[in-house]
Amino acid sequence: MSGAPQGKAGTGSTEITAENFAFLQEQIYRDSGIVLEAGKQYLVEARLAPIVREHGLGSINDLCALLRAVTSDGLRRKVVEAMTTNETQFFREPAQYEALRTTVLAELLAQRRSPRPLNCWSAAASTGQEAYSLAMLAAEMGLGPWDMQILGTDLAESVLERARRARYTQLEVNRGLPAAYLVKYFTRQGLEWILKDEIRSRVRFQRHDLRDSARHLGPFDLVFCRNVLIYFDTETKRRILRQVREAMYPGGYLLLGAVETILDLEDLFERKRVGQAILYQAR
Ligand SMILES: C[S@@+](CC[C@H](N)C(=O)[O-])C[C@H]1O[C@@H](n2cnc3c(N)ncnc32)[C@H](O)[C@@H]1O
Repeated sequence: MSGAPQGKAGTGSTEITAENFAFLQEQIYRDSGIVLEAGKQYLVEARLAPIVREHGLGSINDLCALLRAVTSDGLRRKVVEAMTTNETQFFREPAQYEALRTTVLAELLAQRRSPRPLNCWSAAASTGQEAYSLAMLAAEMGLGPWDMQILGTDLAESVLERARRARYTQLEVNRGLPAAYLVKYFTRQGLEWILKDEIRSRVRFQRHDLRDSARHLGPFDLVFCRNVLIYFDTETKRRILRQVREAMYPGGYLLLGAVETILDLEDLFERKRVGQAILYQAR
């Protein structure tokens, strides 16, 4: 491939070549485990267009040339982060929170061997709504920070920064958050809603790649690993579920997204129904 800009300068309108699409597929898989399926060229072009513009490049093919040429991790990381899907919302899949409220948290508190906080993990935390929903639920149940601690992790630093800031738009608080919680736990500043320190201080965030061992982060009593396994191939899903199990107490609970399963790893987790929710208890 020549180093000359391809396509109209600044428009990023040139279609990605087959060779460059394969290059990005390979790089994104290596850096995140995310499988970019054939036919997703339009997605790559749309997600990477802001980076093409930001770097004053002519097209996505120029960006690939730059990625091949640079040795620093910064640009690669930016590209991978742009390819992650960060869709989330407060109290997503309400039946799972209801199961926690009615049954699971009480069971976990009762089975602790010593008086210690429950250790909870939002393992693909995105912009923080999942971890903060759990923190609000705990507050509503009268549980203090000494009863429960929550860690949110994600591969993408950009979403973690937003999670730490805990500021949400009207659109974001309109999705899933009960009005009573908005009034009680947020204050309005201009166009944003800021989560109060009382809830914010119950959660901390750090970067973690789910494919890596998480033993040093745990052991956990409760793990949310929701709406992220769908982006991986079967081998990576198995690897992640094993890593998650190794970071859990036996008897702890794992929550997956509605369309996700533990595959054939019944030796690691037992499937349980609590009300309308499916949960997986670590063996
Ligand atoms: C669709 S969001 C899910 C957010 C939340 N769990 C929910 O269900 O609402 C998926 C998140 O997984 C993160 N992710 C993708 N690959 C990852 C990896 N290898 N390790 C950790 N996080 C990853 C993405 O950055 C993204 O924020």
